[in-house]
Amino acid sequence: ASSIDLAVIPGDGIGPEVIAEALKVLEKAVAAEGVELKSTHYELGAGHWLATGETLPDHVLEDLKKRDAILFGAVGAAPGDTRIPSGLIERELLLKLRFSLDHYVNLRPSRLYGTVGSPLANPGTIDFIVVREGTEGPYVGNGGSLRAGTPHEVATEVSLNTAHGVERVVRDAFRRASARERKHVTLVHKHNVLVYAGHLWKRTVEAVAQEFPEVTHDYLHIDAATIFMVTDPSRFDVIVTDNLFGDIITDLAAAVTGGIGLAASGNINMDRTAPSMFEPVHGSAPDIAGQGKADPTAAILSAALLLDHLGYPGAARKIETAVVADVEKRDGTVRSTSAIGDAIAAGL
Ligand code: NAD
Ligand code: IPM
Ligand code: MN
Repeated sequence: ASSIDLAVIPGDGIGPEVIAEALKVLEKAVAAEGVELKSTHYELGAGHWLATGETLPDHVLEDLKKRDAILFGAVGAAPGDTRIPSGLIERELLLKLRFSLDHYVNLRPSRLYGTVGSPLANPGTIDFIVVREGTEGPYVGNGGSLRAGTPHEVATEVSLNTAHGVERVVRDAFRRASARERKHVTLVHKHNVLVYAGHLWKRTVEAVAQEFPEVTHDYLHIDAATIFMVTDPSRFDVIVTDNLFGDIITDLAAAVTGGIGLAASGNINMDRTAPSMFEPVHGSAPDIAGQGKADPTAAILSAALLLDHLGYPGAARKIETAVVADVEKRDGTVRSTSAIGDAIAAGL
C-alpha cells in the first residue's frame, strides 16, 4: 500500500508534546518512501473528560477501528486532581482500547545504545524484548469490595488467565525468539504463590516450546527477575509475562537502558482483526508537562514499531538508525522536546 490512514490520540500532559515530534519524524520518514500519511486527530483523555464527560464513546471506538493504526501519546490526570476519579481515563480509554481492539501482544523492546544513559556501572550489551500479555490478568477489572468503608471491608482483584489468551501470547514470544539471534525465551511469573495462573503459564510454555525446538527457554519468578534486570540484564532475550508483571518489569527495563524517555511499545493485534496501537511506555508526566522537557524519543521509536507492523521496515530502520545516532551523541546537555525531535528528523 502507498498510504497510511493513521489515528492520532495525543492525550494529556506530555502526550501532545511527544506526539508532535513523533509525527514530525514519521511524516518525513514515510514521505521519503513515497507513502502518503493521512492523520486524524482524536481529542481524548483526562482533559477531554473534564470538558465533556466523555471517555471513549462507542462511535469514536467504531471510527478508530477503520484506521490502519493508532499512535497514542499518554493519558492521565495530575496527581491530586480531585475533579477526576483516580484511574478512570486509564481504564475507560487506554485499557478499553487495548481490550476492545484485542491488543494481546504488548511488545516492549529494550536496547542500550552505547553505554550512555544507563545507571548501571557495567551494563554490558542489553538487547531484549518483553512480550507482555495485554488483554487479561489482573487488568480485567474482575473484583469487588464487600462492606466498603467498614473495618470488615474485603477487597478482591481477580486475575483472569485463559488457555487461549496465554497460549497465543506465549506462541508469539516463541515466534519472535525464533527470529532472533539468541533464540531464548524466559517466562516470568510467580508460580510458587500464584498457583493456578502460574501453572497455566508454565504448562503452556512447556507445550508451545515443543513446536520450537530451536528455541531454548527458562523460568524466573518476578522477584528474582527484578534482581537480574539490574545485575545481569544481558541474560535476557525474550521475556514473556502477564499483564501486571509486564507493566512493572518494563519500567525497570526502561530505567536500566537509558530511561523511560526512550522506551517504546506496541499494543499489537497479531490477527489483524483491528488496528494496533503504538505508544511510549511512559505516562503523561504531569511533573514536567508544558515545559518542553519531555524526551520524545520513546514516542518516535513507537512510530518505528508502527511502521514495522504496517509493513514498512525500511522506513522503520531509518528512524531507528537516526535515533541511535542521536542517543549515542548525548552527553547530558539538556535539549528541549522539539530540539530532540528536530535533530532526529534531520538525521533521517
Ligand atoms: P510517568 O511515566 O508519567 O512519569 C514517571 C516519571 O518519569 C516522572 O518523573 C516523569 O517526569 C518521567 N518521565 C516520563 N516520561 C518522560 C519523558 N518522555 N521524558 C522525560 N521524563 C519522563 O508515570 P506516573 O507519574 O506514574 O503517571 C502519571 C500519569 O500518567 C498517571 O495518571 C498515570 O496513570 C498515567 N500513565 C499513563 C500511561 C499511558 O497513557 N500509557 C502510562 C503510565 C502512566
Ligand atoms: C503502561 C501504563 C498502563 C498500564 C496504565 C496507565 C493503565 O502503566 O502502559 O505501562 O498499566 O498498562
Ligand atoms: Mn506502566
